Amino acid sequence: MTQFKKITDDVHNELIEIFDNNLSKFDDHVWNTRAPMLKELYNINDEKHIQTLRMEIKDPSVRAKIRSIVNLFDGIDNVDGFMNFCRGYLPIAMHTDVSVNPDNTVSDGYTIMIPLTVDKRIQTIVWQERMGYPVFDEWANTIDWNNRVKLNNLSEKYNLSNGHWPKPDIVDYMALDDVCQWSKGNAWCFKRSQIHCSTNFKASSIEYKDYILIQTGNDLYTPEHK
Ligand SMILES: [Fe+2]
Repeated sequence: MTQFKKITDDVHNELIEIFDNNLSKFDDHVWNTRAPMLKELYNINDEKHIQTLRMEIKDPSVRAKIRSIVNLFDGIDNVDGFMNFCRGYLPIAMHTDVSVNPDNTVSDGYTIMIPLTVDKRIQTIVWQERMGYPVFDEWANTIDWNNRVKLNNLSEKYNLSNGHWPKPDIVDYMALDDVCQWSKGNAWCFKRSQIHCSTNFKASSIEYKDYILIQTGNDLYTPEHK
């Protein structure tokens, strides 16, 4: 289900310039508050640490530029979605981008990522499996992992120690959709309800990664799981 599109070097460079020019205005933080995990995975002794620094993109001309990239993908009917500049300091664990509404219905749509940092050591992993929880652990705790068949050897190919702490080997027991490379000009799109995560770029001493994140749509998703 993951789609890939290419943007030109000129567009890529222009987006990096706009990102850098806005960096001082980034006003939103996502925190990682799992102190034992921070200590074990990254040797960070803080109670909480910035996972992602970001800013919502509101400038109409920048939004129009990004919308023209979003329009390359098939099947996206609401391109005026939520757009963010993001600087990720810690790799994100397995999760989805769905939101759960007050009446317990689940809102879905598309996530589009445009990486600005180019590095062979950074990947975004997308699985076929979807879930109606934004927090992976809530779903993972309902799965009998001992009854699952090993489907791939992702954990040997990539450092995915951050995928599901403290049981990172489960990445091999889920059906892979695609491995998205942070290479120049690459952009991709998947369903917000698909499980995804970053590889552990921090283990390669990469300080941060920059990207543009777009989330579109407001489809309702009815999970197959309970
Ligand atoms: Fe996500």
